[in-house]
Amino acid sequence: MKNYMMGAAVAFCSLLPASHSFAWSGSVLVSTPNTSLLLHANEGEDLRFAYFGDRIEENQIHQIHDAWDGLNRTTYPTFGSPANQLFALQAVHADGNWTTDLTVDQVETTDTGNARQTVITLKDRVYPFTVKLYYKAYNDIDMIETWSEISHTEKKTVVLKRFDSGHFMIRRGDVWISHLHGSWGDEAGVTTEPLTPGIKLIENVDGARNAHADHAEVMFSLDGKPQENEGRVIGAALCWSGNYAIRMATDNNFVHRIFAGIDSETAEYNLAPKEVFATPKLALTYSQEGLSGASRNFHRWARHAGMLCHGDRVRDILLNSWEGVYLDVDEEKMSQMMEDIAAMGGELFVMDDGWFGDKYRRVQDNSSLGDWVVDKKKLPNGLENLVQTAQKNGIKFGIWIEPEAVNSKSELFEKHPEWALQALDRPLIYGRGGTQLLLDVCNPEVQDFIFGIVDNLLTQHPQIAYIKWDANVELRNYGSTYLPRDKQSHIYIDYHRGLEKIMQRIRAKYPDVVIQACASGGGRANYGVMPYFDEFWVSDNTDALQRIYMQWGSSYFYPSNAMAQHISAAPNHQTGRVIPIKFRCDVAMSGRLGLELQPSKMTEEERAQSTQAIKDYKTVRDVIQLGNLYRLVSPYDHKGIASLMYTDDAKDKAVFFAYKMDNFVNQVVPRVCLRGLDPSKNYRVKELNVRTGARPCFLDGKTFSGRLLMNTGIELPLGGDYASCVLELTAE
Ligand code: DGJ
Repeated sequence: MKNYMMGAAVAFCSLLPASHSFAWSGSVLVSTPNTSLLLHANEGEDLRFAYFGDRIEENQIHQIHDAWDGLNRTTYPTFGSPANQLFALQAVHADGNWTTDLTVDQVETTDTGNARQTVITLKDRVYPFTVKLYYKAYNDIDMIETWSEISHTEKKTVVLKRFDSGHFMIRRGDVWISHLHGSWGDEAGVTTEPLTPGIKLIENVDGARNAHADHAEVMFSLDGKPQENEGRVIGAALCWSGNYAIRMATDNNFVHRIFAGIDSETAEYNLAPKEVFATPKLALTYSQEGLSGASRNFHRWARHAGMLCHGDRVRDILLNSWEGVYLDVDEEKMSQMMEDIAAMGGELFVMDDGWFGDKYRRVQDNSSLGDWVVDKKKLPNGLENLVQTAQKNGIKFGIWIEPEAVNSKSELFEKHPEWALQALDRPLIYGRGGTQLLLDVCNPEVQDFIFGIVDNLLTQHPQIAYIKWDANVELRNYGSTYLPRDKQSHIYIDYHRGLEKIMQRIRAKYPDVVIQACASGGGRANYGVMPYFDEFWVSDNTDALQRIYMQWGSSYFYPSNAMAQHISAAPNHQTGRVIPIKFRCDVAMSGRLGLELQPSKMTEEERAQSTQAIKDYKTVRDVIQLGNLYRLVSPYDHKGIASLMYTDDAKDKAVFFAYKMDNFVNQVVPRVCLRGLDPSKNYRVKELNVRTGARPCFLDGKTFSGRLLMNTGIELPLGGDYASCVLELTAE
């Protein structure tokens, strides 16, 4: 075996008894604190997947084999070897051969900071064609990232027709999946179903945003119907912002086979000799503590492995202007809103859409995208005046842009019509406002232009602390004037690589500016972009009741400091529902708190309650935004309530939320058992955000042992319609 660097992750053959040496020579064990992935890497043979689950030690590898050898299948199956099975890779070689036959060439491990990276090089038996499989296992987080790098030195281009990031197997049993499905205004709804024979495909073909309809993430519950806090769960997240496909195949054998990668039905990649094609990461986790346990692993990874920008920082409490004034932005309204949010205790004001355009003014949503100059009629004293007003009020200032888009009614389009994506010889298809198009982000000139939008804003107004980066149109016109004809099939890939390059430049120059990923709501909740963004806008639907469902689903994979949740007006602008202000506050408080309304239209009660919510939120914000999430009672279980909580690492502080979802006469709401506390500690309860004019609830001021709270549970003060409560628990 060539060049095997010995380490904890590789080559245990010498440790193993002779009876196992055939099957287990070249075992590759990739471990995190509580999980292990086991592969067989025998030189000259195909790479085999043996196990993923609870952590095993080196001297236990043989036990996996002794117990059952059934998962012993090819790790990165290719089309053609053999031809009759599903595959992760399909390449048409330079001479027209469609088949690929990979065997192990070498295994290397390196320690990189808080992770150990194992690289397994696979080579085709005949062609100069190489796939390197990467496995990055964190020492302090239960997450393994895997991806592949494909390259060759054939005489001409090799056409990649399928190029998954990874493939793994789960033993068949009562395996269920939980995945997020929805649409604009109803993002991240949880769908739960058993894996049954056939192929379950989750994919996205929007082109630009990929999380409105389905998310590129799945939870696999291995012990039957998913439970929030019990059972074994494997979680998988594809870290890609473009089209993707997750295929889950169950045929008449022992395993479910899971493939995840860039969607290859809509993309074909012509790989030049020596070019390296890197697939996006597929992040895998495992927990024995149910869905919530797997979520905590994702949250920890997001916050501490750079997968969420500034993941370990708390976020400011903000007012965003959109639902307050929509496009009707002007200096007076902006100044008044800044004064109001400052008076309520907020820390940041964000001016949304409507502030820009000169020749074409942004008075409707059908013009001006691309012309990032201040509308002097609306803001005669420019951004400088607004920035100063923010400073006077002791708050920060943020601004909305939609830099990847252009309206045909804009000076930019008049100057550079070729910068819009457009299908060759076909009429343009417009999006929002009947005029909106996407810029060709594959084009480096366009990348410079987009970087310049941010660069100009931030060099001219270094006080801008926050950018809301919106994306309101799909990739509707499939064609690039920049890419050559033989690379048009790269558009769905190169668009996102271009976007990533822009974000890398922005982050290199402006590491501290807070940037929100908005995409007509939650269209960009994905781990492809989150390393560059601080948070995402969960949905354009701010109805508090529906938000409980959407926030629940989003929290499966995303931590609370990534989830922008805003108190909005009643009646709600999307659903027309009238929900009491306390409930609206309590729902928004469970994530990154903000407001999305016109403060001048608030009632006294709304203002007082929101001010109280902001004040109380500040005292527990670190636990909510950076703590460990335990989802307790799911709204999807229709038990009449929903409940969740956060704890700090020391288990000294916790914040508990409960919401009444239905209100029936004589309805018995569940007694809720808390989680994540120390059974030996006593916790004093304090009600937060007490309803204006009301007394704190009966639990307030009382002390309970962690053991009682977790094993017996508490009755909830949830009488009446839209009742809700937020409780702080402090260890005494
Ligand atoms: C869609 C976003 O989701 C909204 O919050 C708002 O920013 C509008 N775009 C502005 O056009």
